[in-house]
Amino acid sequence: MIFYEPDRRDKSILSHDPFKALIAPRPIGWVSTISKSGAINLAPYSFFNAVADTPPMLAFSSNGKKDSQTFAEETGEFVWNMPTWDLRENMNITSASFPQGDNEFPHAHLEMAPCRLVKPPRVAESPCSLECKVTHVVPLKDVDGNACINTMIIGQVIGVHLDERYIDANGLVEVTRMKPIARCGYLADYTVLDELFQMRRPR
Ligand SMILES: Cc1cc2nc3c(=O)[nH]c(=O)nc-3n(C[C@H](O)[C@H](O)[C@H](O)COP(=O)(O)O)c2cc1C
Repeated sequence: MIFYEPDRRDKSILSHDPFKALIAPRPIGWVSTISKSGAINLAPYSFFNAVADTPPMLAFSSNGKKDSQTFAEETGEFVWNMPTWDLRENMNITSASFPQGDNEFPHAHLEMAPCRLVKPPRVAESPCSLECKVTHVVPLKDVDGNACINTMIIGQVIGVHLDERYIDANGLVEVTRMKPIARCGYLADYTVLDELFQMRRPR
């Protein structure tokens, strides 16, 4: 077993930082937002997860003040769209650095569908989208209290869009048929959720 502090790894053993390869898979926050002036944005964030369920809350973390953070802060709203195996190339296109104000939907050959309770559009092709209102904008700090480059945006889910074709006769969502993709490390690694196993909690 080797031990190291994150900024002092032996690069002759670990040529690349394995952090993102170890915390894997990470679900992808495919975040759509709209600015105050109406500019539409769509981008993937893998520093993303569900962080609570009562009420349901999601968080994504922006490495520098990118458009998704800017727009979510401006309007207090964002939408999470599930990126799936079928939508993997479209999702990837939305990670390109388009100029602010340039809508990623047409670039990625995606249709916008309206949301019900928030202004940003959702990805029409995605089998699930969650409408969120921002509850916290948290500038991250390190253990010495120094400001980090990352800001975490937390939002409460206030609306759920779900393609009913994935709901089974028992009222359960067949997520393995949706095939969500998730991020692994290193630069280009992903996985797809197409299998589950069951294990009950001990009494
Ligand atoms: C799968 C994937 C995951 C990503 N995760 C993050 C992330 O967690 N945080 C981040 O700042 N950028 C992340 N990026 C990069 C952003 O998507 C990229 O910088 C994008 O241009 C940001 O768009 P925006 O400025 O329109 O919000 C990720 C890219 C990909 C392809």
